[in-house]
Amino acid sequence: MANILEIINLTKVYKEAQNEICVLKNVSFSVEEGKFIVFIGPSGSGKTTLLNLIALLDKATSGGIIFKGQDITKFDENHAAKTRLTDMGFVFQFDALLPEFTVLENVLIPSLMANKKAKTYAKHLLEKLGILHLANKFPPSLSGGEKQRAALARALINKPTLLLADEPTGNLDTQRKEQIFKDFAQTSKEGTTILMVTHDIHAANFADLCYKIENGQVLKM
Ligand SMILES: Nc1ncnc2c1ncn2[C@@H]1O[C@H](COP(=O)(O)OP(=O)(O)OP(=O)(O)O)[C@@H](O)[C@H]1O
Ligand SMILES: [Mg+2]
Repeated sequence: MANILEIINLTKVYKEAQNEICVLKNVSFSVEEGKFIVFIGPSGSGKTTLLNLIALLDKATSGGIIFKGQDITKFDENHAAKTRLTDMGFVFQFDALLPEFTVLENVLIPSLMANKKAKTYAKHLLEKLGILHLANKFPPSLSGGEKQRAALARALINKPTLLLADEPTGNLDTQRKEQIFKDFAQTSKEGTTILMVTHDIHAANFADLCYKIENGQVLKM
């Protein structure tokens, strides 16, 4: 299988007043298309930072991110936004649903932006995630786990090439969590490459490959 993603000597330094924090130090790894990859690391180890860099939500200090054969760190904001919309799905660590829109509307927003009709598929995703009955509710009236599942449906609506999931099961019970891990394993076999960040070592049982993030390094487990 070809590599869909290559991370080359990626470094991220945050500068704050006099301080510099080097969160990722010369990180390199590659991801084959259609794999489900899990990143495990303690709080503050740089997991969200890594996903944000890959999604071009933040700028690397140095290094390259080759996605589908192109170094996306060289993209301007327009090109980055287009790539995010058509090729990437992102599940944020904190769900980031829009409170004034219903669950179904939230899920449909990326498809509207991409000019696609996707209501049937949106309902299918909600059904699969066990929250179809909440389609017309507003996010503030949902539980944490329900919001997390709605955010997941939204990330999948445009059938992304790459799904970036930042601790997507943090608010779910064990059974739901396992179901999501199994669904991710299945979804990756259908062609969507998945990078998931978690504290949950159990996720490793479902992934094709598992990396540990610690002290600025990303190492195979
Ligand atoms: N915008 C920022 N400015 C300065 N420092 C930051 C910034 N964002 C993150 N950091 C620091 O970088 C380190 C990594 O943060 P990051 O959010 O990537 O960790 P994480 O592994 O996702 O943690 P958690 O498991 O708690 O979500 C932390 O020490 C954090 O304080
Ligand atoms: Mg985080």
